[in-house]
Amino acid sequence: MRAAMATAVVGDDVFGEDPTVNALEAEVAEVTGKDAAIFVTSGTQGNLASLLAHGDRGRVAILGDQSHIFCYEAGGASALGGIMYHTLPTAADGTLDIDAIDAAVVTSAANPHFAQTGVICLENTHNRCGGAVVPVAHFDEVAALAARHGLPVHLDGARLFNASVAASTPVRTWCDRVTSVSLCLSKGLAAPVGSVVAGPREFIARVRRVRKMLGGGMRQAGVLAAAGRIALHEMVDRLAEDHALAQRLAAGLAALPGLHLDPARIETNIVVLELAPGLDPGTFLDALATRGVRFVAFGGRRVRAVTHYGITADDCDRAVAACAAVLRELGADDLEREQSRLDALYGRR
Ligand SMILES: Cc1ncc(COP(=O)(O)O)c(C=O)c1O
Repeated sequence: MRAAMATAVVGDDVFGEDPTVNALEAEVAEVTGKDAAIFVTSGTQGNLASLLAHGDRGRVAILGDQSHIFCYEAGGASALGGIMYHTLPTAADGTLDIDAIDAAVVTSAANPHFAQTGVICLENTHNRCGGAVVPVAHFDEVAALAARHGLPVHLDGARLFNASVAASTPVRTWCDRVTSVSLCLSKGLAAPVGSVVAGPREFIARVRRVRKMLGGGMRQAGVLAAAGRIALHEMVDRLAEDHALAQRLAAGLAALPGLHLDPARIETNIVVLELAPGLDPGTFLDALATRGVRFVAFGGRRVRAVTHYGITADDCDRAVAACAAVLRELGADDLEREQSRLDALYGRR
């Protein structure tokens, strides 16, 4: 990847003259089955530019309350685009209730009270749902609903290649059911920078304008796109290794007292675990970090671990050993025993 970056042929991408960026965009358009694509700096910028390109100020984006766009993107579409978020409960598998979407949609401008829907957003794999692969059948349902109302659907596909590898399904299968998609070349695909938005030609032209507005027009961006092309060509199949390592990590962690998770629910490279009551996530994470293992807080007593390029089976085993040591220090055994005693006493299990 570094060698490809060093030798990339470049031009000025703001003028559309960078051959490496143009090649990357053409390849992503091809793999997603869309008319056109555009290289952006990050997944956040891809989602933001897409939402702004889909809806004028005062429009509504319908999305899950656990979606990355809602939870982790600084409210960008609202702050910068005047777009209102209408959140619906995200189910544990990353889906949204179809009737709830239907009830939330407003398409008529006849009643001046109501903000009109601009876009419906989905996410796959679903980060806060532990890397769940959202089934194609759900996309079918949402696509049918959106078509009935004449609305676009945007897919936050930051980890769509993980879904593709886990489900042995081409990314195009999901992309065919949405209007636009944002794919990350960073994260699992290991490029240092970059995402790509794909969609209809005139939509991508609008995204290009918004990207410029956001300060995301880059000049000799081919040095970055070159890494993105390696990500696309050489890093997709190896995601299966990350998924296998996530299983290994999950199996090790599930056996420890004080950690609750069901390895059977782990589908891709994200392992979400829950600490037993009485264990403080901050203390747990700090103690792990001193042993060289970095998991992140994920709300409440939940903690997230991710496997990715550069993480080995030995690293996973070391992480499990570090967790075991930290849990011993924190007295997780005693806590678990006390919890079982209380559960038995009150008939909770
Ligand atoms: C599902 C999802 N969407 C979007 C993003 C944003 O990507 P970036 O960090 O490149 O802005 C992330 C980042 O983790 C993500 O998990």
